[in-house]
Amino acid sequence: MKKIALILIALAFISQIQCQISQVTEDVEQVTISDLKTYNQWRSNNRRVFLNEEEETYRQLIFFENLNQIKTHQNNTEATYTVSLNQFSDYSDEEFKERILNKHIQKSIPDIQEEQEPKGNLRKATNYPTSVDWRNTGALGPVQNQGQCGSCASFGTAGVLESFYFIKYNQQVKFSEQQLLDCAAQAGFDAHGCNGTWQQEYFKYAIKHGIVSGNSYPYVGYQTRCRDITNLPKFFPQSFKFIDRKVSEMKSAISQGPVSVTIDASNWRNYYGGIFNGCSKYPELNHAVIAVGYDAQGNYIIRNSWGAHWGEKGYIRVSANNDCGILRSAIQVLS
Ligand SMILES: *[C@@H]1O[C@H](CO)[C@@H](O)[C@H](O)[C@H]1NC(C)=O
Ligand SMILES: *[C@@H]1O[C@H](CO)[C@@H](O)[C@H](O)[C@H]1NC(C)=O
Repeated sequence: MKKIALILIALAFISQIQCQISQVTEDVEQVTISDLKTYNQWRSNNRRVFLNEEEETYRQLIFFENLNQIKTHQNNTEATYTVSLNQFSDYSDEEFKERILNKHIQKSIPDIQEEQEPKGNLRKATNYPTSVDWRNTGALGPVQNQGQCGSCASFGTAGVLESFYFIKYNQQVKFSEQQLLDCAAQAGFDAHGCNGTWQQEYFKYAIKHGIVSGNSYPYVGYQTRCRDITNLPKFFPQSFKFIDRKVSEMKSAISQGPVSVTIDASNWRNYYGGIFNGCSKYPELNHAVIAVGYDAQGNYIIRNSWGAHWGEKGYIRVSANNDCGILRSAIQVLS
């Protein structure tokens, strides 16, 4: 709070003195002319429009705080990843959690034992390749963007079903995230629109009701009334299972196809590239994504749904030794 107040005064100061650069840097704490230039450039790149001056000032303050965090990161010699400005740079941490992450699952821990597992159908693959990467194989369509809606689980589910379909039928399809978002709750599943849910709710919904194509039911980024999908063609997955919480089981599953995982993304928002090792030692699951590979060191390759400009073309690599809780709630489609 103190820093915000300081910067506020500083901003007033800057606007008063206009271009007297030499004075500005002095008691402005972190905000410099160069920061202001960075802000203006970022703002025009991200097409930010504000309701009024108060909102603009407020956003600007948050931006400078985030910019400062990004600069400080460069001094963190233990980090094996880089950070940058992006579409989230004028959100506070709280807003990021509130608007982008999966609020529903932050409050609950899944009871994995009681979940359904098909009998007699468990693939016991004990060996797996040293490394796997499903990118550029055709099994993954373009990276998606969930927008300002905690709908990650619908992307995690639809994306994994698309990959499953491609691996099984050698045909690229796009399934509807919006259908899951709109219809699962209405069909009585424990789903909460943009507040999020666990992916298993969407998998269970798709098994029961089928999933339609993204073209026939496009994404709009907020929850709407479930449309009439009676006459639309649907794909009915048959079964899924939770992967045992072991690295070997996870790798084995990923080697068979992309895996739906729930993870701690609290510290991901500035990620730009490299092996992410910035998760808490006590991960709090709050985001659904897709594990699409691992490298020879065991680091995971993850497909996110924050657009292709975020991270490594929409992907993040997560450290084998700081895995953001990736093993805790991972789902494999079986049939
Ligand atoms: C990074 O470290 C250098 C040297 O210790 C220091 O001068 C600089 O202020 C630090 N930068 C940030 C943003 O913390
Ligand atoms: C989402 O959560 C907010 C409170 O955080 C609540 O007011 C709202 O009704 C919830 N929406 C859904 C669809 O669950």
